[in-house]
Amino acid sequence: MTRDQQGVAVAPEVARTRGELAAARSRMTGTVAVVMTMGALHEGHAALLRAARDRADHVIVTIFVNPLQFGPTEDFDRYPRTLDADLELCQREGAALVFAPSAQEMYPAGEPAVRVNPGPLGERLEGASRPGFFHGVLTVVLKLLQLTRPDLAFFGEKDYQQLALIRLMVRDLEVPVEIVGVPTVREPDGLALSSRNRYLSAPERQAALSLSAALRAGAAAAGRGAGAEAAIAAAREAFDGVEGVEVDYLVLTDPDLGPAPGSGPARLLVAARVGTTRLIDNAPADLAPAQ
Ligand code: PAF
Repeated sequence: MTRDQQGVAVAPEVARTRGELAAARSRMTGTVAVVMTMGALHEGHAALLRAARDRADHVIVTIFVNPLQFGPTEDFDRYPRTLDADLELCQREGAALVFAPSAQEMYPAGEPAVRVNPGPLGERLEGASRPGFFHGVLTVVLKLLQLTRPDLAFFGEKDYQQLALIRLMVRDLEVPVEIVGVPTVREPDGLALSSRNRYLSAPERQAALSLSAALRAGAAAAGRGAGAEAAIAAAREAFDGVEGVEVDYLVLTDPDLGPAPGSGPARLLVAARVGTTRLIDNAPADLAPAQ
């Protein structure tokens, strides 16, 4: 129940332990959706919750900063933790239940020795720069699917490779859940919403606009029939003269992250370090046949 009789949004129940989660989950009837997050919720997460509310009777939000998916030099300690504001957003968007466990609750025997192997796709792009990242992501996602037992699970296209790997895991390991992708939410100037945007200084935020500008330029060139290589070159030009941005990768692939097709639907993906903050973004492209 997420609204009272006057239609006022009711605060979601908060479960801190797997016992509390199991008890709350067992009271749910009808369709259940989960939205998994690491907290620091923003309007991108709100869009996930709304998409989940449209399809399900009850929405469970998980909030857990998963240590398994952070490398030793990454931002685990400084990752924003904003539970009170997160709970307000969950209430506003009609979540029924928030599962916010401790690391001890999620990993009672310590870091798991058995982890989900993401396979070859997990070693490319984000996986090449962040060894072990997708092992950590898929392991926690599978655990959270087992604990929340949803019919539907919603993930943002902003983390496109993560979404693709979760789809593969669910297919390959026969996990009984429907995975739903939700389009990226952007600021009016094109910046993709991300919990990590709050690390950016004003000049860094300005420089970060080069990522979405690159995707727009690449998609436009692809649509003009320029071909994959020229589309990448057009995208790369968006970084010309932009200081403080170090591109990690800028690629054009097919929608499943395989080699770029000669024509038809494709995906542009970019990762770059802006100051000390690593940002990723992606967009669909349609490779028109060469003129
Ligand atoms: O996308 C995220 O926020 C995380 O990778 C996820 C899916 C919640 C797993 O920790």
